[in-house]
Amino acid sequence: MPSLLDIDALIDDANTKIVVCCGSGGVGKTTTAASLAVRAANRGRKAVVMTIDPARRLAQSLGLRELSNQPTRVDVDEFRPTGELAAMMLDMRRTFDDMVLQHAGPERAKAIFANTVYQTIASSFSGTQEYMAMEKLGQLSASGDWDLIIVDTPPSRNALDFLDAPQRMSSVLDGRVMRMLSAPAKATGITKLFGAGFNLFTKAISAVIGGQLMTDLSAFVQAFDSMFGGFKERADATFRLLSSPGTAFLVVAAPEPDALREASYFCQRLIKDDMPLAGLVLNRTHPVLAELPGARATAIADEMSGSPLAQAVLRLHADRVAVAEREKRLLARFTMAHPSVALVGVPALPADVHDIDGLLIVGDRLAGKG
Ligand SMILES: Nc1ncnc2c1ncn2[C@@H]1O[C@H](COP(=O)(O)OP(=O)(O)O)[C@@H](O)[C@H]1O
Ligand SMILES: [Mg+2]
Repeated sequence: MPSLLDIDALIDDANTKIVVCCGSGGVGKTTTAASLAVRAANRGRKAVVMTIDPARRLAQSLGLRELSNQPTRVDVDEFRPTGELAAMMLDMRRTFDDMVLQHAGPERAKAIFANTVYQTIASSFSGTQEYMAMEKLGQLSASGDWDLIIVDTPPSRNALDFLDAPQRMSSVLDGRVMRMLSAPAKATGITKLFGAGFNLFTKAISAVIGGQLMTDLSAFVQAFDSMFGGFKERADATFRLLSSPGTAFLVVAAPEPDALREASYFCQRLIKDDMPLAGLVLNRTHPVLAELPGARATAIADEMSGSPLAQAVLRLHADRVAVAEREKRLLARFTMAHPSVALVGVPALPADVHDIDGLLIVGDRLAGKG
């Protein structure tokens, strides 16, 4: 039997500074992150939750009426925690812009913002969102304003992208290709490296991607050149923060084969990298409400032809038992692979979770209460 994940012990522990909710798309990461933050605030902690793409109504219930890239105090009548709760929604473009501004100063930043290559990378480069989530986490942590930071992660197709983002981003930004393209500034070194054929090479690229873009690309790389060190340092610092004992990773999964397979892979990766894995949250389970075995319910239903309502209820119960058993089998497969990973199940609520009350209920379930 795997051990039960003790959520309250985790969020009450003053040594827990960061909780990262990760997992594949649509499994309930945002819901789990928001519920944990609400619960932690109710238990006296000064908590902030960084959400990514929350459903509109959920954002509204947290007081995030407009896109806010800075923590905003959740100030609603129905929620008066003993601690404090703030929420923010990650805006990847604004985070990137702020970072450039801070590193490059207003003059150079202006030129960078106008650069088409920057615009493309800042708004649509694969991995930018993950990288900016890391950057924002670094900022929230450095501010010292919060005693617990709950992090939702981007809806990547691959749950591992979040961990790989800093590495990937810095390798693109300070990679050989980028350096090579910044050739005009360092023509001699590049020519030495690639021989006289290099100019022909850049000409060929210019012809393909267009002269203006080429100029922008080279300008972009030159502008970023002095920031490469800073990027890498920050990415490394955030990675260290994530590996430290003050961080806890929660892998969120739905009781579905794909989500559990991904969760299994993610646990494996966290364990291999020595990252602080706290446990698995199995979200939207369908536990049975009565002990009656499914086959027995079906048998009784068959005999009760005179009472269609009772029949329907019994058949519904038999269906639920079948679903619960399927979920149990899936979970058994997971725990066989990861016997040491603690876990907790959160039943599917009758409706979507889009208000504080819903988050309070999910929080209770996460803590094994209610
Ligand atoms: N335990 C639950 N019961 C009912 N609905 C849930 C539950 N957990 C999540 N949901 C709903 O499922 C949808 C996806 O959840 P979300 O947290 O946005 O997933 P993710 O962030 O992983 O993409 C949302 O509409 C949310 O309200
Ligand atoms: Mg989400």
